Amino acid sequence: MPKMIITGGKTLNGDVFISGAKNSVLPLLAATLLCDGEVKLYNCPDISDVENSLHILNSLGIETAFKDDCITVNGRMPINTTISENMMRKMRSSVVFVGSILARRGKAVISTPGGCELGPRPIDIHIDVLKSLGATVTEDRGKMLFTAENGLKGNTIDLKLPSVGATETAILAAVTAQGTTVINNAAREPEIGDLIDFLNKAGADIIGKNSSTITIKGVNKLNGVSHRVIPDRIEAATFMAAVGSASGSITLHNVIPAHLESVTEVLTRAGCKITAGDNTLDITAPKSLKSVCFIKSLPYPSFPTDAGPMICAALSKAEGNSVFCEGIFENRFRYISELIKMGADIKIEGNIAVINGKPLFGAECKSFDLRGGAAVVVAALGARGTTVLSNIEYLNRGYDNLSEKLALIGADIYIKE
Ligand code: EPZ
Repeated sequence: MPKMIITGGKTLNGDVFISGAKNSVLPLLAATLLCDGEVKLYNCPDISDVENSLHILNSLGIETAFKDDCITVNGRMPINTTISENMMRKMRSSVVFVGSILARRGKAVISTPGGCELGPRPIDIHIDVLKSLGATVTEDRGKMLFTAENGLKGNTIDLKLPSVGATETAILAAVTAQGTTVINNAAREPEIGDLIDFLNKAGADIIGKNSSTITIKGVNKLNGVSHRVIPDRIEAATFMAAVGSASGSITLHNVIPAHLESVTEVLTRAGCKITAGDNTLDITAPKSLKSVCFIKSLPYPSFPTDAGPMICAALSKAEGNSVFCEGIFENRFRYISELIKMGADIKIEGNIAVINGKPLFGAECKSFDLRGGAAVVVAALGARGTTVLSNIEYLNRGYDNLSEKLALIGADIYIKE
């Protein structure tokens, strides 16, 4: 199995070109199932979660092509209505396809998604949303059958928590439903705004982008459309944490600084100098970060849970004590055991990690999930000696050429097959 070899001690300097957002492309690909015509998505990252999503579309009878950064989808009636068990296991966010398939065909079948590395990852809110739009849901031997013979009907949906995926499921199921849907307590992540922009371009009637109340007037059909995917704010946050760990001065290109305000605020408190351009961020980090007394991850626009592991990795060698509270997932601290192998002094109490900054040294580490793997890379860049990271297929789920991009700004990093 390939491993990533990182030798720390090199400062990072230069330009990084951020790819399109993984967590935007996935719901956008689900949305293509609603479009009667060709769809072109530009600025798509070449990562395995996108590859898996294209396999799902192909398994539904939809032709797709991926050339350079453009994905072309031949939007037409999906022939099949089942997402395979293998697919659900590979990528639990496949659940976002259910709303589109059900809206288009009146039926959708998935396997009950297992938990994943971050915790149980239930889909109860997705199910409640689809039921409130008129679907019936039955479970039989690990399969979930969603049906809406008479089509979906608009309704008022009160989400019990601002779930990103369930908000996307509600939008995709409601956009061609009969009547109007109002989603209250909707998630406000930028990727949801990108989905709303895409759908309105295709002929939808959705208002409330970036707010926690979204109103959707059902339309009869959506057309093919071209759309440029927003930049990946979590990839950008990863490079911000990387320079925080290794020190140096980098410029991130193709970013939306407004999407990174909470991460910018934390790293500024840690001693970085950050200036925003229209679609760039310049970040200069000191030899050693200062500790940050308290950070809590919460739904957008608060500090993003997905950036937590990388920021904690960078703070593992800051001077003094930092406290990180994980406010979203039950089990997002598995990576910390790997940082402790590198000499980090971190104590976990429930969903709180108390970090006492220490010099780090290279070690043999594993990725348990996408951002946990990225955390080890960030720590290794600022550690003395060499780190060998295994299970790097997790990294390939969400980062397009991470090691190449880091090597271009001076990191000593390569993949050993
Ligand atoms: C999305 O996952 C992202 N994935 C995650 O990114 C991100 O961490 C998460 O939002 C939070 O921002 C994609 O967009 C593909 P949620 P999602 O529904 O939609 C609970 C990464 O690293 N919940 O907002 O699954 C859930 O257990 C990934 O790129 C229910 O209880 O997240 C969690 O505790 C990791 N019932 C909380 O809500 C439900 O039906 C937030 O989950 C759904 C969710």
